[in-house]
Amino acid sequence: MRKWLIFFGIVHWAVFGFLIYYFLFVLEISWVWVLIGILIYVLFFIFVLVRIIRHYYHFPIPSFMTRIIDNPLRRKFVQKPDLIAERMGLKDGMTVVEIGPGKGSYTKAVAKRILPNGKVYAVDISEKVIENLKKRIEKEDITNIIPKIDDAYNFTFADESVDRVFAIACLPEIPEPVKVLRECRRILKPDGLVCLSELFIDPDYPRRKTEKRWASEAQLELKQEFGNWVSYQLNFGKKSKSNNEKIILND
Ligand SMILES: C[S@@+](CC[C@H](N)C(=O)[O-])C[C@H]1O[C@@H](n2cnc3c(N)ncnc32)[C@H](O)[C@@H]1O
Repeated sequence: MRKWLIFFGIVHWAVFGFLIYYFLFVLEISWVWVLIGILIYVLFFIFVLVRIIRHYYHFPIPSFMTRIIDNPLRRKFVQKPDLIAERMGLKDGMTVVEIGPGKGSYTKAVAKRILPNGKVYAVDISEKVIENLKKRIEKEDITNIIPKIDDAYNFTFADESVDRVFAIACLPEIPEPVKVLRECRRILKPDGLVCLSELFIDPDYPRRKTEKRWASEAQLELKQEFGNWVSYQLNFGKKSKSNNEKIILND
């Protein structure tokens, strides 16, 4: 296997080198276009490599990466915090839990929609992420975001106590997503929603169908879906009683 990998690596980069030579000196394409092509290809290569590595080894994303992931381009064009929050059907006074808040852009978009009485608990297992978020909201004087170290496998929230649970480009990073969704279901009020949004360039990006299967295994049913393959959002609620009965009968 190792020998094949080395062989494939050498052939791959040799073909890559030859193509650069061919585009530059035979087709005489401008070096600017060739450079752009190289950049796009190298980014694609890194994306595939990271996906392969993460398929075998699951490790949490280091906290400094949250600053890179949450960038102005993403917020302005692909995964817009206000749009995601708008699709969550938020109201004043709601209790919301966010898993993996990162820099807090999505947390803030949600927090302002549930004012003056609502609260967002931004939970993460990483102390660094929570510390950084605390500093940020203190600076901005936001009082209805509560950053908290908590494990999505075993939340400290009571049963049926939360109106919304949301996770943006986060659930597929956690090795046992169905276990997390079962825990989300436990803390969710009967009419609550679990809102998930994914982004294609995320190395852990799952297809919609995969995320729907995870949710169904956790006894959640799809209520609404938005977006396209680049970025989508799925809102799930608890499976209705009749569906649960059907599932038990089918078992
Ligand atoms: C990819 S980052 C989230 C990115 C962020 N939502 C954004 O859009 O910028 C995923 C986060 O999930 C956190 N995480 C991983 N496993 C977790 C668990 N079991 N419970 C809570 N948080 C977890 C990681 O520490 C990490 O900060």
